[in-house]
Amino acid sequence: MFPVYMFIMVFLVWVGNGNGHKDDCPFWFDCGNHGKFGYPFTTLQRQDCGIWPIHGCDDRNPNSGQGVTLKIGSWWIKVRNFEMQSIITIVYFIDDHLNHLLQSDSCETFNHNISLPPSSPLGYFTINNNITIFKCNRTRQVKTPRTFLKNTSCACDIFMGPPHSDDVSHNSLASSCSMVQLPVNGYAVSANPFAFLTADIPLQFHPSDECFQCLGAGSHCHLDNQRKPHCAPRYF
Ligand SMILES: *[C@@H]1O[C@H](CO)[C@@H](O)[C@H](O)[C@H]1NC(C)=O
Ligand SMILES: *[C@@H]1O[C@H](CO)[C@@H](O)[C@H](O)[C@H]1NC(C)=O
Ligand SMILES: *[C@@H]1O[C@H](CO)[C@@H](O)[C@H](O)[C@H]1NC(C)=O
Ligand SMILES: *[C@@H]1O[C@H](CO)[C@@H](O)[C@H](O)[C@H]1NC(C)=O
Repeated sequence: MFPVYMFIMVFLVWVGNGNGHKDDCPFWFDCGNHGKFGYPFTTLQRQDCGIWPIHGCDDRNPNSGQGVTLKIGSWWIKVRNFEMQSIITIVYFIDDHLNHLLQSDSCETFNHNISLPPSSPLGYFTINNNITIFKCNRTRQVKTPRTFLKNTSCACDIFMGPPHSDDVSHNSLASSCSMVQLPVNGYAVSANPFAFLTADIPLQFHPSDECFQCLGAGSHCHLDNQRKPHCAPRYF
């Protein structure tokens, strides 16, 4: 007699796969000589398990000087340092082009937008400790908002201020000037932008609300077949 329970088992496996539950995502994975990594990073093989796949784990030569790399669009970044504490993740890397602009006090700095990894239903990245810089055509004669500093040594007027400002005159900048947000090095913000801007970029990961709850409960947040966040228990 063909056992009924075998039929039920096959049925359960089938339902399980159809539900968008893939194989369990590992909580940690080995990245060759570079140690263990976890969410929001993932391997190239299991891109469904995280937001950012890590390259360079199979580089077996510890002296080759090749750290792990990450890709933002078509752009490769070489990670200088990772900070991973419970659900806080920060990736530090040097933006070589911005570094070059800053070292030569170039006015092109204020056209340099830093590319961020695309946001996903799992979360998004921001530049930690950034300030907002507006570049305004001088003929517009924009007045300096209360919380901003002005520098006139480039062909355009440069206004520097906090990442968020409730100053109403902020709107006059937003409507008639171009804007970039760049990281600062910790020195006091002054009227000389080259004294406090840095090309050493800290990208911080912010889980989406759904994933934040899930991670807070010690579970794993990844994408299901419909690219929606799916909260799965953690497996050790
Ligand atoms: C930089 O990117 C921001 C956000 O995408 C955009 O609002 C701004 O206009 C860009 N600035 C320049 C100078 O391209
Ligand atoms: C700059 O910092 C603010 C406040 O922390 C944040 O909301 C914003 O997204 C950051 N900008 C970028 C380009 O990451
Ligand atoms: C500023 O605007 C004026 C008038 O629209 C234009 O002729 C000039 O080229 C602009 N200057 C810069 C530096 O963009
Ligand atoms: C404006 O920036 C330049 C560098 O481009 C700097 O030499 C100058 O001191 C700054 N102006 C003020 C008022 O700080």
